[in-house]
Amino acid sequence: MKRAIEELAAIIKNSKNTVVMTGAGMDTESNIPDFRSKDGWWNKVDPMKVANIDAFYEHYPTFHEFYSARIKSLDRVVPHKGHYVLADLERAGYIKSIATQNISGLHSQAGSKTVYELHGNLRRIRCNECYQEHSIDDFLTKAACNYCGKKALRPDVVLFGETLPASIWDKAIKDVEDSDALIIIGTSLQVYPVNQFPYMTRGKVVFINMERVDGYNFDLEIIGKAGEILNELGHILL
Ligand code: APR
Repeated sequence: MKRAIEELAAIIKNSKNTVVMTGAGMDTESNIPDFRSKDGWWNKVDPMKVANIDAFYEHYPTFHEFYSARIKSLDRVVPHKGHYVLADLERAGYIKSIATQNISGLHSQAGSKTVYELHGNLRRIRCNECYQEHSIDDFLTKAACNYCGKKALRPDVVLFGETLPASIWDKAIKDVEDSDALIIIGTSLQVYPVNQFPYMTRGKVVFINMERVDGYNFDLEIIGKAGEILNELGHILL
């Protein structure tokens, strides 16, 4: 493992343009469950019943209960060492940006500046009809939109059946396409279109994850816990 992390440090040192892509495995050491591991969210609830745009329209009470619980659980979580190392690596000029599938906001909370929230942010609430921003409390109390009056408040996250925010996606893709190194951390690479990232860079691709994923030809694979690996990487580069 140590040799692999030293190889990762060398890849980053030799890259003029390193981009990081993270998934739910980046947040589990902050006590946020991922989705597809044995204790993951999708082994407890059917995503199509709670995290799908149809669930919003046809089963709002279930949708509201699921996202209210996830929002409330954020009160108890903080970034872990790995989030801070990524922010320090950006500050030191080793990382250009982070494209994350996570909606926790932990990368920004740890100090990362250029973060593309591809699936949105759970702490941001908007009206589904007129996009007016609202408070978390408005969502939790099922308030009506204070602009258009509709009872349609929701977290500003990408639900199954919705497209990714175009401007954020375009910026992330440009960074990945221009990168000399793409570091992928804590994702099963099951969800399109983010799982195409490894094919979009001309640079080296590094995969850091608790389990292997088939169908890709990574230049370097480090199987282990993101927080521990990033902590070790920080000792070498910072
Ligand atoms: N360190 C490294 N890897 C980890 C850790 C950890 N501490 N904890 C979990 N993992 C790995 C798991 O082994 C798994 O392969 O992270 C991966 C998480 O995969 P998923 O649960 O599928 O999460 P993710 O890939 O982010 O899902 C993508 O699917 O449901 C949608 O919108 C949701 O953004 C999410 C998207």
